[in-house]
Amino acid sequence: MKVGLLTGGGDCPGLNAVIRGVVKVIDNAGGESIGLLEGWRGAITGSHIELTPKFTDSIIDKGGTILGSSRTNPFKNPTEIDQIVETFGNLGLDALVAIGGDDTLGVASKLYSEKGLPVIGCPKTIDNDLSATDQTFGFDTCINIVMEAIDRLRTTAESHRRILVVEVMGRHAGWIACYSAIASGADYFMVPEREVNIKEMIDVLQKRRDEGKNYGIVVVSEGAKLNNDGGFVTKDQEVDEFGHVKLGGIGDHVAKVIENRMGVETRSVTLGHLQRGGTPSAFDRVLGTRLGVHAGHLALNKDFGKMVAMRGTQIVAVELKDAVDKMRELEDSFFDEAAEFLK
Ligand code: F6P
Repeated sequence: MKVGLLTGGGDCPGLNAVIRGVVKVIDNAGGESIGLLEGWRGAITGSHIELTPKFTDSIIDKGGTILGSSRTNPFKNPTEIDQIVETFGNLGLDALVAIGGDDTLGVASKLYSEKGLPVIGCPKTIDNDLSATDQTFGFDTCINIVMEAIDRLRTTAESHRRILVVEVMGRHAGWIACYSAIASGADYFMVPEREVNIKEMIDVLQKRRDEGKNYGIVVVSEGAKLNNDGGFVTKDQEVDEFGHVKLGGIGDHVAKVIENRMGVETRSVTLGHLQRGGTPSAFDRVLGTRLGVHAGHLALNKDFGKMVAMRGTQIVAVELKDAVDKMRELEDSFFDEAAEFLK
């Protein structure tokens, strides 16, 4: 059996652990693996590298993806779909493991249902917003990076008696903001799922100050909606191939509001791509490896149109189309537990 792998969308710690897992399982069964380069772009052009256990053995501790990534959407151009079909033939692929978020997996799902290509999905995103899996790898590393950053910001905020607003990733879901706010003991946090209540935030921050806490930490999801029309705060209007605008700037906005209303010096920090970079946590290495091993077995069993997922502590296979149907938003129970500290 010859298996292709690709990584699409935003990179994320743990991708290389998945690649290593798939390659090992396929090799154990006497098969071979190749890596298509830069997401769906590699599937279109056929650009690839050979993947052997010898080559992938030492990549488990590396962040990012050894295959490169892109936000290429072949469904924007029908000829690119034909090229992907040709690539399967030219390279003699019996299966393709597509590792990505909702966009990459959406393409994989359509290639399976509309073109009958032997595709298997593996979910990744630091945002943790994919519905068919209990957690995505990359998220654990991300929230630890954010937690450590806020621990550092706290000492300087406290020294200067400032309020610091920390903008974190999370386009559609507030998992990163909620978890990192809990883990770092933030005074307030904002997520895309809940209407932003500026008055409540100011009241909480003022209460803390009145109680003698002379600094403050506010965590804001990049996807929280502040505009009068309920829209995103964006960097510019340019969209990627899947129609997503570049988010960013909400932290600055919130900081100005706090400073104007409270008269307390307030600064903002955008953590940006720091949250996706660097070495994966043990949890993400293990989860990535387990998902890779199971994806490899799905390929060997020719069980296509499926996605590997974590349910409870087990790795299971779910229908790829169900996995991309809807986002996994921050659940109310998680928000409510964290909200006990917003009072
Ligand atoms: O992978 C999802 C994500 O982390 C979003 O939270 C964020 O909006 C986006 O990636 C940014 O990606 P990039 O700037 O690399 O295109």
